Amino acid sequence: MRISLREVRDGDLPVFFQQMNDAVAVEMAAFTAEDPADREHFATHWRRVRNDPRVVARTVVGHTEDGAEVVVGNAAVFGGPEEREITYWIGREHWGHGLATRALRALLALVPDRPLYGRVATDNVASVRVMEKCGFVLSHREKGYANARGTEIEEAVFRLDT
Ligand SMILES: CC(C)(COP(=O)(O)OP(=O)(O)OC[C@H]1O[C@@H](n2cnc3c(N)ncnc32)[C@H](O)[C@@H]1OP(=O)(O)O)[C@@H](O)C(=O)NCCC(=O)NCCS
Repeated sequence: MRISLREVRDGDLPVFFQQMNDAVAVEMAAFTAEDPADREHFATHWRRVRNDPRVVARTVVGHTEDGAEVVVGNAAVFGGPEEREITYWIGREHWGHGLATRALRALLALVPDRPLYGRVATDNVASVRVMEKCGFVLSHREKGYANARGTEIEEAVFRLDT
């Protein structure tokens, strides 16, 4: 499926909420909100994100063969100039079709800032692959508290220079 990125619309948020509450996805991402099901916190977070000039947040739109548009997920760059970071999330029903890789490539074309960093639980193999396929290189590993796991786990920090 072809994808494109566009500005986040109010109507995308309920889809993101559902995607970002999928138990399998939450477990995989590990470094999530304390309570992803907290609608108030979710709404506040997205209001802040959409109003922060340093954040480039985009909806990942999938284009089906019959011309329909589907909100397949979201992707963003955030943070100050010293440590600009990427993040992305694809709805589970769309996994395994290369959409995250395409979405990250599109985001990297849109945002010229370098270096860019990506943080991922070391056991999130799919996300590690997405970053590697987009040219990110492992910088270092560190320990971090993962809300979704309720414990500290190992986190890999990837970096993209060019
Ligand atoms: C991680 C995530 C973005 C991957 O999305 P996706 O669209 O399925 O990824 P792609 O199809 O582009 O696949 C990328 C690579 O990962 C591999 N992959 C996908 N799922 C995998 C899995 N469960 N285990 C191992 N590898 C996997 C693919 O085979 C592909 O590698 P390849 O081209 O070498 O075969 C998606 O699973 C997701 O949103 N998860 C929840 C949120 C999350 O973890 N976000 C990232 C936080 S750092």
